[in-house]
Order: sequence, then structure tokens, then C-alpha cells
Amino acid sequence: MAVIGAGAAGMMTAAVAGRRGLRVVLIDHAQRLAEKIRISGGGRCNFTNIGSTPAQFVSRNPHFCRSALSGYGPRDFLDLVERHGIRWHEKHRGQLFCDESSEQIIDMLRAQCEDARVAWRMPCTVEAIAHESGGFMLQTSLGGIEARQLVLATGGMAIPQLGATDFALRIARQFGLRVVEPRPALVPLVFNAEEWAPFSTLSGVALEVQVSTVPCAAGAGQGRPGGRRERRGAQPVTFLEDLLFTHRGLSGPAILQISTFWNPGEPIEIDLCGDTDLAAALLRAKPRNRQQLATVLAELWPRRLAETWLATEADGLGGMRLADVPDRRLQALAERIHHWRLTPSGTAGYRKAEVMRGGVDTDELDQRSMQARKVPGLYFVGEAVDVTGWLGGYNFQWAWSSAVACGNAL
Ligand code: FDA
Repeated sequence: MAVIGAGAAGMMTAAVAGRRGLRVVLIDHAQRLAEKIRISGGGRCNFTNIGSTPAQFVSRNPHFCRSALSGYGPRDFLDLVERHGIRWHEKHRGQLFCDESSEQIIDMLRAQCEDARVAWRMPCTVEAIAHESGGFMLQTSLGGIEARQLVLATGGMAIPQLGATDFALRIARQFGLRVVEPRPALVPLVFNAEEWAPFSTLSGVALEVQVSTVPCAAGAGQGRPGGRRERRGAQPVTFLEDLLFTHRGLSGPAILQISTFWNPGEPIEIDLCGDTDLAAALLRAKPRNRQQLATVLAELWPRRLAETWLATEADGLGGMRLADVPDRRLQALAERIHHWRLTPSGTAGYRKAEVMRGGVDTDELDQRSMQARKVPGLYFVGEAVDVTGWLGGYNFQWAWSSAVACGNAL
């Protein structure tokens, strides 16, 4: 059997299948093995999230990932990590990282493949795939490869500069399988340059916020993640995380998380003072308070943000002392800070995205084996499938879980 793509899901599939005694050839076009694992988690690879459940995955069919996750969960991967002596730590909300380097995860997967006698073809480009009686014929830069079973593990389109391609989606379409429209996800959001100009000077400022989607009531958006049209009255999605101002827009975990749920043309809403009732706090502090409003706000916020906000969003309040600001203006200021609504002009694109949302439609695949229902012997695993995890180790967990489900079913 052949696996195309020697990233997270491809190496795991090859190792599991090889250990079961199958003859496996693992093909990748890259010069260097598993670049995305290498750069992940700031070089320490957030290799799973110990709290992974189907609720942290976005897909047209939110139940699809259930079987693979329950068959091989975070604890199973952690056992493997520990068996290889890799030291790890939990950073934030169940996110597990290597203490030392993401290279350790690559070495572990490479060793698993070696133990399972996987044959490597790398770098090797697959030029064409033909489906012939009882198998697949691959035309590659290293010659023809015949395989009874073929696994597509070529990932998504994020970071094309590292060799990411839409190969799996093209092959899915070649075999008549539906693809859910792919888009960049876990990606910074950008704004019209003119509208953003006053905030561009805040680049580097970070603070914790609550960010929410504002679903279009009339379905004017282009659909929920996975291509479904927005329904009237759909619930907004909310995350409480850090936000980072950039020259062109917004980034940081809060924005990366919400980007997966954002549809072009829709606004997002940011509560810039998430855990404080700002109006009540300002009114309480007001009597005889001769401090400038900017100084009062700077106790809650980074000073640069307080000054910029008062200069651009709070007409005429910039130089006022708190005691002199009428109550209704303080209330209006607080209302705007708690409900800052803004419409991104787009995302920063695949070059800056951590993942691709969308992919091979899960309706086309068997959830226990990842096999294409219409094409026996053809499998899709990892990010190429329309299952996208939140930020925080969930995407690798999907790579491991889908790969083990597939590797055991081959
Ligand atoms: P992956 O992308 O890992 O592997 C695909 C392989 O296929 C690559 O080796 C590629 O070279 C090969 N390939 C592609 N096209 C091909 C073709 N046409 N022919 C042959 N080979 C081809 N997730 C997480 O859970 N925790 C984290 O810390 C991070 N951090 C992170 C940081 C950054 C900067 C990015 C871009 C992404 C992350 N991710 C992450 C996401 C995570 O890296 C991603 O979801 C998984 O690597 C997906 O695993 P796959 O095996 O599906 O694809």
C-alpha cells in the first residue's frame, strides 16, 4: 500500500499499517521531513490537547470525528510520547508541548516508521494516479508505484512556502468525491488600510478579550465553516483569549480561534474589557476623580490602547478628567468598549494560516476507516479531511486519530 504525504497523519498511518505487517511505501515531495511539525507550537509542538472532544472540531458533520477520537485519543498519543522518553508540559487549557523540541516528535514518528519497515520515497513527486483493476498506479518522479490501497495524507494548503498543496483535494475531485470549500483558518484577520490606519500604530499591543462572531441574520454570509449557509438566529461563537494588534489588523489566539468561524462580509464583535462592568467601574470611580480619563483607562488597559481609543473612538473625551465626563457619555464609552463591532476585509491568507478549513467532505468517507465510500481502497486522513480543530493541539490530535483509524483498517 502507498501513503502520499509524510507529515503527521501520513507517518502515523504508515507506522500503524506497517506494524500490522503490510508493505508500506511512504511518499513525500518535500526535501525535509515534516516541516509543519518542526515549526509547530513555536518549535515545541503542541502535540495534543488532553481535553480533546468532538466539540473542539469544526466540520459539516460534527459527529464524524467521534469514532476516530474515541479509538485513539490524547492519552494514547501521550503514552507513545512517554514511551519514547520525550519530556512534556501542559501550558494552557490542556495544551501539551514538548519540553525541548518538536524535532523529538518527528524523530519518534520516523523511528515508528523504521520499526514498521516502511519504505521511504522522498523527495518524490506524484505526477498522476490511475485507478486500475484492483488497485492504483502512481506515476512519480522516481518511477511507477503500484498499490492495492492508497492513503492521501498531504494535508491542507496552509503555508504553501513550506510545500503545502491542494493535492488531496484534486485527487478527491478526480475520483468524483465532493470537497467542502477550503479556506484559511486559524489565521489573522485584516482590515481596510484606511479604516485601520488609526489602530496600526498599536501593533504589538496585546490584551485578553472576548471575541464573538455576529452571524448574518439573513444568510448574507457565505456559510458556516464547512460551507453551510448561515441560518437565521444561529448562535454566535465566543472565545475568551488574548488579542494582538498588528499593522494590518488583528491576530493572537482570540482572533485565530474566531477566524475559523468567520465568513467574509460578516462583522466580529470584541469585548475589550471582558471581565469588568466598565460603566459601573467608571461611575463608581467618578466622584471628585481629577485623573484624566486616559489615565483611568490605562489602569485596565495598555496605555497606548487607552490613548488611541480615546483619540479615535471617543470624540472629545481624550483630554477630560473623569469627574467632568457626564454619566451618559461614560456609559456610551463603556458600551462601545464592550461591543466593538468591526468587519474584517479578509484574512491574512494561507501564507499566515495555521490550517485549512474545509476539505474532503466527510459524507464521502467512512468514519471508522477514512475510506472513500465510492472508491474502495482510497483513504484520506489528517487535515485534508473536512475536520478542523480549534487552536491548542487539536489539529495534531485529529491527524493522529484519523491516521490510527485508517492504519488499523487497511
Ligand atoms: P502535514 O501538513 O503535516 O503533512 C502533509 C505532508 O504532505 C507534508 O509533508 C507535505 O510535504 C506533503 N505533501 C503535500 N503535498 C504533496 C504532494 N503534492 N505530493 C507529495 N507530498 C505532498 N497543530 C497543532 O495541533 N498544534 C500545533 O502546535 C500546531 N502548530 C502549527 C503551527 C504552524 C505555523 C502551522 C502552519 C500549523 C500548525 N498546526 C498545529 C497545524 C498542524 O501542523 C496540521 O494540522 C498538521 O500538520 C496536519 O497534519 P497532516 O499530516 O494532515 O498534514
